[in-house]
Amino acid sequence: MKFFKVSLVALMMLSHVAISQTHRDAKMDQFINSLMQKMTLDEKLGQLNLPVSGDITTGQASNSDVARKIEQGKVGGLFNIKSVEKIRDVQKIAVEKSRLKIPLIFGMDVIHGYQTVFPIPLGLSCSWDMDIIQRSARIAAIEASADGINWTFSPMVDISRDARWGRVSEGSGEDPYLGAQIAKAMVKGYQGDDLSKSNTILSCIKHFALYGASEAGRDYNTTDMSRVRMYNEYFLPYKAGVEAGAGSVMTSFNEVDGIPASANKWLMTEVLRNQWGFNGLVVTDFTAINEMVAHGMGDLKQVSALALQAGVDMDMVGEGFLTTLRQSLQEGKIKQEQIDLACRRILEAKYKLGLFADPYRYCNIKRSKTEVFTAANRKEARSTAAQSFVLLKNDKNTLPIRKKGTIALIGPLADATENMTGTWSVAADFTKSVSLLRGLKSAVGKNATVLYAKGSNLTEDAALEERSTMFGKTLHRDSRSSDAIRKEALDIANKSDVIVAALGESAEMSGESSSRTDIGIPAIQRELLNELLKTGKPVVLVLFTGRPLALKWEHENVPAILNVWFGGSEAGDAISDVLFGDVNPSGKLTMTFPQNVGQVPMFYNHKNTGRPLAEGKWFEKFRSNYLDVSNDPQYPFGYGLSYTAFRYGDIKLSKTSFSAGEAITAKVTVSNTGAVEGKEVVQLYIRDMVGSITRPVKELKGFQKISLRPGESREVSFTITEEDLKFYNSDLKFVAEPGEFKLFIGTNSRDVKEASFILK
Ligand code: BGC
Repeated sequence: MKFFKVSLVALMMLSHVAISQTHRDAKMDQFINSLMQKMTLDEKLGQLNLPVSGDITTGQASNSDVARKIEQGKVGGLFNIKSVEKIRDVQKIAVEKSRLKIPLIFGMDVIHGYQTVFPIPLGLSCSWDMDIIQRSARIAAIEASADGINWTFSPMVDISRDARWGRVSEGSGEDPYLGAQIAKAMVKGYQGDDLSKSNTILSCIKHFALYGASEAGRDYNTTDMSRVRMYNEYFLPYKAGVEAGAGSVMTSFNEVDGIPASANKWLMTEVLRNQWGFNGLVVTDFTAINEMVAHGMGDLKQVSALALQAGVDMDMVGEGFLTTLRQSLQEGKIKQEQIDLACRRILEAKYKLGLFADPYRYCNIKRSKTEVFTAANRKEARSTAAQSFVLLKNDKNTLPIRKKGTIALIGPLADATENMTGTWSVAADFTKSVSLLRGLKSAVGKNATVLYAKGSNLTEDAALEERSTMFGKTLHRDSRSSDAIRKEALDIANKSDVIVAALGESAEMSGESSSRTDIGIPAIQRELLNELLKTGKPVVLVLFTGRPLALKWEHENVPAILNVWFGGSEAGDAISDVLFGDVNPSGKLTMTFPQNVGQVPMFYNHKNTGRPLAEGKWFEKFRSNYLDVSNDPQYPFGYGLSYTAFRYGDIKLSKTSFSAGEAITAKVTVSNTGAVEGKEVVQLYIRDMVGSITRPVKELKGFQKISLRPGESREVSFTITEEDLKFYNSDLKFVAEPGEFKLFIGTNSRDVKEASFILK
């Protein structure tokens, strides 16, 4: 494999582009110039090195291997080290014992909250509420920074359409428009208006790029797609995060156009920096450089050089930069300027965080004791969680249930304290989460009796349960026979007035390296559910999951289904709030729920094909469909019920044609026709009927979350301009093409009112 030859001129142009796109801070430049003049090559390479150090304990910091490296100036930052004391100890080594006293940056996967845990990102996105999403990131930043952290590897903004992929739980679902809004909200929440404040932290847009499109939903797998699809369907959230000012970007593990992202110069430099104007630091994912050896891109020296040339600045864990770049430089395979540029970007991040002014800026013991896991933060997490739940079915008003009589709470997720936070809750103390059992009991007090039984283990297969309950998130597997466990549950079910079945996935059945080929509720739990239904009592399925599940059988048989994802540390209370009707559910799905796994990848904004199915039909020979299942999802994108009902009036357009520079207004009256107050996410979709490239059958272009009292009506208005109709054409030019457009407004992507207009 030949190395990319980067001429000095090209390189100078590159750094010129990068620098000219920054709002340069002259003082910062001066400071970093003078610091870099003093730095040796090894000290510069040291800045590019980001080891993980979760194991350092206070007092022992100075004896560790990483401590020696810090002293020698071979470390730029550390991640997943927790607590002010430990971080202060380690920072002290850097600023007192290393030659140039350059402070370290401290990162962590603060993904959905810190110690106060918010719902998993997929759940959070179902709130469609940018204010609460931004606030959740703000609170996470306040808590993390109070505990010594100044950099989070979040938000994860990968578009995901394949429910088999475990990491769908970490993102905001399948829609680029919604994903872009959420990316912005998260970046603003973490970084605030001034990064140097001691309670704001650097955010990181990840995983750049296309990680969510891994083939067969298998983690770390290959991705391959057209550039038109990248630009129109996958890039938007990354770009929005960059435009919101994200200070860092993480490379993805997968390849893009046959080149792993970490060595992909087109992606890291042409798209990210030249087209989007990103001027922050690019960090690799965990050992992503080293993994390029297995990808077949060369040995460690070669892949490290490729990564640097592509525009990567910091090497997470793998030490390829640290151990090989000196030799590559001597051999003329990379340039000094490339090392300098990477080093500069890391120093700039530290400068912007205020670490040179005060390396202990984020090490305030008092803050760590008073600002973390506070009552106010937990209250916010509880109300946010309640807004992330999605009511999938509610026949005959089975929900809400009343705080009286006897409630049987049954299922392996019912008393699952350690599981409530879901995947990626590195800083959480799992024992402090509120389980559903605890939440229900405290909600009913003395007004009702709550009887509990486990009913089944997570899975019949103990080894599968072990793989699905990692990192301390145990479900305390019951060693009795399945029959004995179930019998105990049926006994209490028979004594109760209503059954709440807490079933589904464990926290670690989704997340990294947690792909599934069967996306149903595990068989043993479904059998339990079937037995519970046979009692004839009303059954409410409280569904825990980190991905869309195939729920055809459940939908056909269970009267009420409340999808609660993993709601975070306060989930048990939040679920109780919704079950008893103290909070009316308002979440709307951000990923399509298929009928079965064979339909995935499944997403609402697909193309029409040349042989679409005629409306109302579910099978026709020689049409694009399946023999054994219709093309319909089980629950479409944007779907979610309420304890009240909303009626949509017809769409009123301000005009039926308009020209570039003008705008068109679409109005619809939404009425609450039920008996209780409720929130509704009013969704606007558009279809471009004829294009120079094929266009999706629907694309989300706007939404508004409104609250209506019983009997109240509100006119909701959307303004559409030419900008909203633009897409990347086959030359990757962002254009709007004149012609007919359909416009849809509704309660989800399927149930909509329709109108049309012309762009002249
Ligand atoms: C994940 C990233 C994460 C990193 C650091 C990787 O395995 O893909 O999302 O930020 O580890 O923990």
